[in-house]
Amino acid sequence: MPYYSSDLIEEVISQNDIVDTVSEYVTLKKSGRNYMGLCPFHKEKSPSFCVSMDKQIFKCFGCSEGGNVISFLMKIENLDFWDAVEVLAERANIDMSRYVVNNYHNKMDTAKSDLKDRLILLNKEVGLFYHNNLVELLKEEKNDVKDYILQRKFDSKTINKFGIGYATGKIPLYDYLLEKGFTKEEMLASGIILENSSQRMYDRYYQRVIFPIFDIRDRIIGFGGRALPKNLQDKRIPKYVNSPENDIYHKGRTLYLMNFAKREKLDNIIIVEGYMDAIALQKFGFLNAVASLGTALTENQARLIKKYTDNVIIGYDQDEAGQEAIMRGLDILANHGLNVKVLKLDRPDAKDPDEYLNKYGPERLKKCIDNAISLVEFKVEKLEKNYDPENFDSKVRFLTGISSILSKIDNNIERDLYIDKISKKYGMSPGPILQEVEKGMKNKKASEVQIDMNSLNKKMQLITSVRKRQEQYIIALLLSKKKKIVDAVFENVKSQDIDDENVRKIYDFISSLRDEYDINKIDILSKIQDEDMIKEITDIMYIDISGYEESLLQDVLKNKKKEKLFARRDEIIERLNQDISKDEGEILKVELNQIVIELSRLK
Ligand code: CTP
Ligand code: MN
Repeated sequence: MPYYSSDLIEEVISQNDIVDTVSEYVTLKKSGRNYMGLCPFHKEKSPSFCVSMDKQIFKCFGCSEGGNVISFLMKIENLDFWDAVEVLAERANIDMSRYVVNNYHNKMDTAKSDLKDRLILLNKEVGLFYHNNLVELLKEEKNDVKDYILQRKFDSKTINKFGIGYATGKIPLYDYLLEKGFTKEEMLASGIILENSSQRMYDRYYQRVIFPIFDIRDRIIGFGGRALPKNLQDKRIPKYVNSPENDIYHKGRTLYLMNFAKREKLDNIIIVEGYMDAIALQKFGFLNAVASLGTALTENQARLIKKYTDNVIIGYDQDEAGQEAIMRGLDILANHGLNVKVLKLDRPDAKDPDEYLNKYGPERLKKCIDNAISLVEFKVEKLEKNYDPENFDSKVRFLTGISSILSKIDNNIERDLYIDKISKKYGMSPGPILQEVEKGMKNKKASEVQIDMNSLNKKMQLITSVRKRQEQYIIALLLSKKKKIVDAVFENVKSQDIDDENVRKIYDFISSLRDEYDINKIDILSKIQDEDMIKEITDIMYIDISGYEESLLQDVLKNKKKEKLFARRDEIIERLNQDISKDEGEILKVELNQIVIELSRLK
């Protein structure tokens, strides 16, 4: 990526109205000079998400997220800074090349992002190449590939929408890409071309149906290739071959087809294991289906989902491996505050959603989705698999296991309902279960003592917050764009006078900007990229001090003076308690007297 001048960022901010941009994601209602809505970054029932038209910033007073139009797009679309700038520049028809600065070069960084850009281009080219292969093959009367595509019930609409292709392996991609201007290094970095020990270049995908993998901006970042059935008779050939991890493809950060799913209004997201499952679901109108592509769910994927919805249904294979994978994924998802349910297919002869859909159709699958079971039920059912009601030990283990699961439920009513349901289902008396659950909950209570400590910390925060507010006023004054005020603050308040770390960081940052800019003329927020600082400064920007700058400045200076006097007073008192000469004692007492008088005057 080239190095852009900071004018680009200001241009992007000024050309993309934050109210318009946010409105694409959040329903906003006008309220005075501001717009309010439900925060898209945390769960809430009454609006605390505020967009300021005048200041061109947003702030959630519930979860403290805040920033400008760029930070908003980064958060909501999971983009990094420059990707967000690029999207916004595109929307506003800003020609980014006009802002390239040539005399400043961070070589490493530039080379790295240059490669990323090239890999995206290369993948696009390759995706098209494979797709065209398939389109051509489907025009023929009959061939293996066409047979397979028909057998899997892919119609042309599906093939086009998901960019499905075919790698013949016949026309060497290497030559094709060379002709398109790509270098050998770029091809190797993409992982699509491999080099053998005698330096011969060959294709990773050979006789495979190709599924491009998109990022959430619809760019192809990798591929998966499925072997034709005839080749699978050779047991050494893997069913799927996937792109390796590289500069643009990170398995654990991607969810297949999320780019399509995120366009919908999502009540929930269905996560499935495979390409075929996600495609089949979307084809039948379940546009909320994404695939984790056979890997264990990661924290990153959980966060990605949480951006769009709070509810997840896991629709993994019904076999042992699939069920184990669910167990591993459940807690990761639940820990990110997602409500998790598990899809159970009600026919043993359909092992995954794709098979089920093709055998029993979408209406029946819809019923299964509506009946998806809760996390608790899933865990209990799993315990049940090893439960032998005839065996005493097994019975004890089962009961203890259930109690442990139930004691983790916070909601009393829900917990009681489960105890009732389960005791009935397994013909047990609820008493002992209840007792065990209560025992489990006591253990939990012990760990909650810790939490009480936290609430103590909160109280401490409240005490310090008065002081913090004072410090925020200092920054508010620095943002006032009034030269006299700003200069007076810088002259009288120094970095070390500020206790709060984030406020101090902002003070230091603004102070450092003074070397290069007239800070009364620039958009300071647009120059900050540190998340904590952005949250803090947007908080401060909402403090309306206009018209009060002068008196607030006097207040800040007065407080500053008071603090100094207090400190000196304490020093003197301490000294007076020590063994000192009479003379010194007299002098100190006079000074102390003056301080006390001055302090009372400052009140
Ligand atoms: N997978 C893989 N490599 C393999 C097998 C599976 O990467 N050798 C991944 C693929 O992403 C695949 C997913 O795990 O889509 C689920 O595997 P599986 O259930 O075996 O495949 P399906 O998606 O059901 O594919 P198909 O219906 O074509 O058999
Ligand atoms: Mn399948």
